[in-house]
Amino acid sequence: MYDWLNALPKAELHLHLEGSLEPELLFALAERNKIALPWGDVESLRGAYAFNNLQEFLDLYYQGANVLRHEQDFYDLTWAYLEKCKAQNVIHTEPFFDPQTHTDRGVPFEVVLDGIAGALRDGRDKLGISSGLILSFLRHLSEDEAQATLDQALPFRDAFVAVGLDSSEVGHPPSKFRRVFDRARAEGFLTVAHAGEEGPPEYIWEALDLLKVSRIDHGVRAAEDPKLIERLIDEQIPLTVCPLSNTKLCVFDDMSQHNILELLERGVKVTVNSDDPAYFGGYVTENFQALHESLGMTQGQAKRLAQNSLDARLA
Ligand code: ADE
Ligand code: ZN
Repeated sequence: MYDWLNALPKAELHLHLEGSLEPELLFALAERNKIALPWGDVESLRGAYAFNNLQEFLDLYYQGANVLRHEQDFYDLTWAYLEKCKAQNVIHTEPFFDPQTHTDRGVPFEVVLDGIAGALRDGRDKLGISSGLILSFLRHLSEDEAQATLDQALPFRDAFVAVGLDSSEVGHPPSKFRRVFDRARAEGFLTVAHAGEEGPPEYIWEALDLLKVSRIDHGVRAAEDPKLIERLIDEQIPLTVCPLSNTKLCVFDDMSQHNILELLERGVKVTVNSDDPAYFGGYVTENFQALHESLGMTQGQAKRLAQNSLDARLA
């Protein structure tokens, strides 16, 4: 089944480039940039990848991103991810990046963007992988800081397909970012937002009604609200679901408890994605494989999930 799933043409719509930083590359970049790390070796870093919730993961994820300093680092990170896409027949990808994670450390916005955009361009030219980049605001920071980030992005508007919203969800509802999303839409960006990962169904309503998102990232807690499920089905709003992430971050106790196939069978436009593959134990194919092993996902269901991902593209 793994080889069949791997060969299935698919799109990835929920992938944080900083979350694709494998420990081996992290150590190589630390050495190249002469940065001391708190972990002795790759194995001890991998050993730290045990999380009880989203915040425990984010603490390590932001620490890992500290090795990314120069344009070439962002290029290498993005290129390594695109090579994975090629190996797994991901023919289209819409990755996120978090500019504030880097600009707050003094890395200029253009350095980050030039590295990522250069690799995406080469991915199109040399690997045949199409893409659309999504600039994600950090929701644990203020709306004013998100506005300043949008200002930095405007001169490079054509480099992005959408803006998104990620980081610590609970306590930072979509409504906190209503004005910056209004402005982003007025400037021509589409919008997406993480909602209903750890946060309640109300956050999904807010993302739809206030931020006017084209997709919901995660959204698995929609299952708690029948009216919301009805709306997601009626309007065919895609959910970019990340099964391995949800189990690693204890959103579900075990993959056998995951609701993605239930949502699929009810008519919700769910897709399969890897979120932060370096931290959660697998890329897209491994996420599909986990659904097969733990939930008995059939080839027919896998084809529908893959088709959903192709249909839900923004770029
Ligand atoms: N940033 C990277 N991965 C994330 C996730 N799963 N949820 C929220 N923010 C993130
Ligand atoms: Zn995510």
